[in-house]
Amino acid sequence: MRREVIEARPVPRDLASRLSSIKPSATIAISDRANALRAQGVDVISFGLGEPDFPTPLNIREAAKAAIDAGHTRYTRVRGVAPLLQAIADDASRRRGVSFSPREVVVSVGAKHSLFNLALALFEPGDEVIVPAPYWVSYPEQALLMGAVPKIVQTTEADGFRLTPATLASALGPRTKAIVLCTPSNPTGSAYDRASLEALAAVLRGHDCWIIVDEIYSQLVYDGFEQVSLATIAPDLRDRLVIVDGASKSYAMTGWRIGWMIAPPALADACEMVQSQSTTNPSAIAQQAAIAALQGDRAPMEAMVAEFAARRTLMVEGLDSIPGIRCRMPEGAFYAFPSVEGLVGKRAGEKVLADDLDIASFFLEQARCAVVPGAAFGAPGYVRLSYAASQAQIREGVSRIADAVATLR
Ligand SMILES: Cc1ncc(COP(=O)(O)O)c(C=O)c1O
Repeated sequence: MRREVIEARPVPRDLASRLSSIKPSATIAISDRANALRAQGVDVISFGLGEPDFPTPLNIREAAKAAIDAGHTRYTRVRGVAPLLQAIADDASRRRGVSFSPREVVVSVGAKHSLFNLALALFEPGDEVIVPAPYWVSYPEQALLMGAVPKIVQTTEADGFRLTPATLASALGPRTKAIVLCTPSNPTGSAYDRASLEALAAVLRGHDCWIIVDEIYSQLVYDGFEQVSLATIAPDLRDRLVIVDGASKSYAMTGWRIGWMIAPPALADACEMVQSQSTTNPSAIAQQAAIAALQGDRAPMEAMVAEFAARRTLMVEGLDSIPGIRCRMPEGAFYAFPSVEGLVGKRAGEKVLADDLDIASFFLEQARCAVVPGAAFGAPGYVRLSYAASQAQIREGVSRIADAVATLR
């Protein structure tokens, strides 16, 4: 891994100074590097990118084609068309067991855009935004772009990478504007169970800040894990709670760019105003497709979840059996997040593997497997592997990693 993938780039003199504090996405950088190797004819298995490898289900694709012919080809209301807002509110009410209204929904060009709108609407220089690590790369970067300070709070593998009430309490302060939680998490796959979320809610009740919960992986949980939302267990926090969700992961729709927030109406209106000055509405056609996703047959998604469950076991057990690698069984999403601390200090020929960046590089060069170094997510000593890859690729990739590790001295 070139070290600069996770370091700030020098900014040309005439660009805005705010760019000096942010970094390009390390996950995109790794896939660029894997693609460059592929272009040279190297057979690289990619465990780098975070998107389902399944096609968008047929009923959704058909709905999009029909939408074009039916004339859904013009600007829509900025926050999305009424039937989609209603479909999102209905789906959220059904899945979270509390009532949501279309007044609270704003649809954007992906959940990343929803988060960006929130950052623009809420964060100011001097604000602190609590971000538990390991974190999804965009949370701190978006806060930094607004001049706010991401307050990174470490969680531990022993705590299941979940923020504890004590750690949360010590991170909250007079400048805390918001906290961003992600459950199930990218990159760790960890999810908060009811008891751990209730414990965090008890702390948050005592501190007036925005609570942004990214639930984009909430339908991708395994082994009967009970996915709960803060909205369900702490309705009293609803006036400062924002849920971020979207179509990308659950319905294999990453390229369609549909995500949304469910926020108190005044904040939703503010975010709609922000969006009105940037992208206007998300694609009118993709909005019709999203209605079909939310209201249509759930069988394709259920089949995808069952397949992810099988791949999770294959990958996690495979990695965990490699000497020097330790891998926790995650509750959801589609990522394994093993510790590679046990490989630090080993020699690959003349080269000593100093950290997870070296190890990710070693996996790419020796095992021809693309993984993302944990440092990109604020978690040195770990790497992230996405199991949005076929079982055959997972078997082959894990075996190549095992063979490469066996050559270390
Ligand atoms: C935790 C998390 N939130 C949000 C997103 C953004 O999803 P999208 O913009 O495709 O809806 C991603 C995508 O990788 C993610 O992992």
